[in-house]
Amino acid sequence: MGNLLLTNIKSLAGILESGQTKLAGKEMSNLASIQNAWLKIVDGKIEDYGTMDSLAFGSNQTIETIDCSGRFVLPCYVDSHTHIVFAKTREEEFVMRIKGKSYEEIAEAGGGILNSAARLHQMSEDDLFEAAKTRLNEVINYGTGAIEIKSGYGLSVEDELKMLRVIKRLKVIAPIPIKSTFLGAHAFPKEYKQNRPGYIQLIIEKMLPIIAQENLADYMDVFCDQGFFTTEETDVLLEAAAKFGLKPKIHGNELGFTGGVQTAVKNNAISVDHLEYTGDAEIESLLNSETMPVALPGCSFFLGIPYAPFRKMIDAGLAVCLASDYNPGSTPNGRMGFVVALACSQMKLTPEEAINACTINGAFSLELSNEVGSITKGKLGNIIITKPMESLAIIPYHFGVDQVEKTILNGEVFLGI
Ligand code: NIG
Ligand code: FE
Repeated sequence: MGNLLLTNIKSLAGILESGQTKLAGKEMSNLASIQNAWLKIVDGKIEDYGTMDSLAFGSNQTIETIDCSGRFVLPCYVDSHTHIVFAKTREEEFVMRIKGKSYEEIAEAGGGILNSAARLHQMSEDDLFEAAKTRLNEVINYGTGAIEIKSGYGLSVEDELKMLRVIKRLKVIAPIPIKSTFLGAHAFPKEYKQNRPGYIQLIIEKMLPIIAQENLADYMDVFCDQGFFTTEETDVLLEAAAKFGLKPKIHGNELGFTGGVQTAVKNNAISVDHLEYTGDAEIESLLNSETMPVALPGCSFFLGIPYAPFRKMIDAGLAVCLASDYNPGSTPNGRMGFVVALACSQMKLTPEEAINACTINGAFSLELSNEVGSITKGKLGNIIITKPMESLAIIPYHFGVDQVEKTILNGEVFLGI
């Protein structure tokens, strides 16, 4: 837990009053900021901030100080949807898609998630842990200061537990908050293709009790979509998970208008993620709920599928969230700066809306709004110092070029785990 003073900040942005858990509709266009500012972190938490003329010199001599002239200071990104525990990359499927096969055709032929599951089965827990730790290091360096990680490449009792134990170990060593999501219902393993109820029973009777007993997950996720789990199967799984204290998060409406959003709302899901196929009925359903819609534009970019209609959704008054979806199949990239760039250039969000979607609304999606997601007194000192930048729009404008100069976690410059 560090003590740190940042001075001469060109713009300290993302300031919120404490108690504000998310921003919706028009509120999202305001990324409150002060110019020529200082920020003080004490014992790892944001203690105070103000304009440079209000900084009392002399009393700060013992505190480590970073001069942030020309730089923006922002809250760290909160990446509320990732699959960073995986065995191997899947670039051969990427090449198959270039040559004309669709993501669903590859999955149908035993590639996709089942391919990742076969490879994960071969890998030891320790090797998986090391690989995931490397990815975690990478994304923290790109500004992620809180993250969610899913299982879902196990699809057997043994391998789902292996994944969740890796996430639990990451929670212990990571300097950032991590939430763990059980995604055993990611796909039907080959041996259960003709016996879907059998796999659902395995999840409910064999996986969930151990997960609850060993406290291995915070949330339960289901891939509720065309070719994967039906809305009825999703209901059954979520009802069982609730008995074990796991709240829902849903993968929905990625491949079609399949009722994923309505199922998420009906089950009071914390979030419903993907949303490439979202129409008026889905928007109406979300407006009458507390469920956070999460878009994953890196997935749309990589698979060449539609982008979630976030412009329309914000204009309808919704709070919306953006996350990376970092995984080997649909989004082999965890850079939140690139997510911001895609949200602005492809989904027509303003830079301010995109950053709010990646910070405070990401925190809401992980029930971490009291700890991270904004510059607020008492929150963790998890912040980004940018490279020298003229304006905030430089982040999405220079797409693919990262503007993060330093990630500060708990008031300490991040040097790696
Ligand atoms: O969120 N859509 C479902 N699951 C992952 C991708 C899984 C994979 O292809 O490995 C996603 O995109
Ligand atoms: Fe995903």
